[in-house]
Amino acid sequence: MGTVYVDSRLTDDERRQRLYQGDLFVFSAGPASAGLCALARELSEEAFDPHDPQVAQDHMSAEEYARILADLKPRFIHHERAKELIGAMLTDAGCDPDKIYFDVPRLRTMAHGEYMKAGLALQFHPHRDTWFSAPFAQLNWWLPVYEVQPENSMAFHTRYFAEPIQNSSADYDYDEWNRTGRKQAAQQITKDTRKQPQALEELQLQPDVRIVTPVGGFYVFSAAHLHSTVPNTTERTRFSIDFRTVNVDDLANGEGALNLDSACTGTTLGDYLRASDLEPLPAELIERYRLHPHATVAD
Ligand SMILES: [Fe+2]
Repeated sequence: MGTVYVDSRLTDDERRQRLYQGDLFVFSAGPASAGLCALARELSEEAFDPHDPQVAQDHMSAEEYARILADLKPRFIHHERAKELIGAMLTDAGCDPDKIYFDVPRLRTMAHGEYMKAGLALQFHPHRDTWFSAPFAQLNWWLPVYEVQPENSMAFHTRYFAEPIQNSSADYDYDEWNRTGRKQAAQQITKDTRKQPQALEELQLQPDVRIVTPVGGFYVFSAAHLHSTVPNTTERTRFSIDFRTVNVDDLANGEGALNLDSACTGTTLGDYLRASDLEPLPAELIERYRLHPHATVAD
């Protein structure tokens, strides 16, 4: 990784190439990204009423909190307005709505302190999304829902964009996870027992890079970047949105970040919807990646 671009005017084709090399792109708020955050706030405030969602954890048990999240998160994920806003956000960012596909947005929470570190508030240890059956053309888009600070944001461990890590991704299969792991999330409150790919060697996590944008601002990064949730040492729960995109031509041409160390099986490509009409990716492309999940030009 070399460069952090702010409000770059590069075309989407140029931008994707640089993202696959590990560069990061940061954008100021636009109407669609601000609207997506507003929707997440509205639903969260409704769910935690009468508490401010950022401090609601101080007013209830972890079990009750988990129950509220188990209802709130799917409501946001499947909200029609969220899909429309993402389509608009991608068009505003210069993506071709006929070529770009996104998966449903996640609403993530990171409680402060030791409150809950599992299940639906899972604290993500350092990982690459590509250890979780993501294609190497996947890009991640990340937005804070309320103001964030470095102490409750996420971190990039940028040296590992170019360095392989011993890891347990060979034990992970996305299709199997879909059958079993996801359903168990709501039952995992304080300790997570589900099998997740992780590093099998000691990592040098400092120095890291953290990006703090105002609410509505967002950033984009390659799914191959090693990243982690920062332990939340503030007084506020972090709420954030993220979603992933792929460009269909890049998938067809095997373009994307290099695979240094991923050995998982299966593919997440069945989850993606075309921005223009919410159609899925061509079935033969999904099948190709299911059989060869790590196909990139360098292979
Ligand atoms: Fe991730």
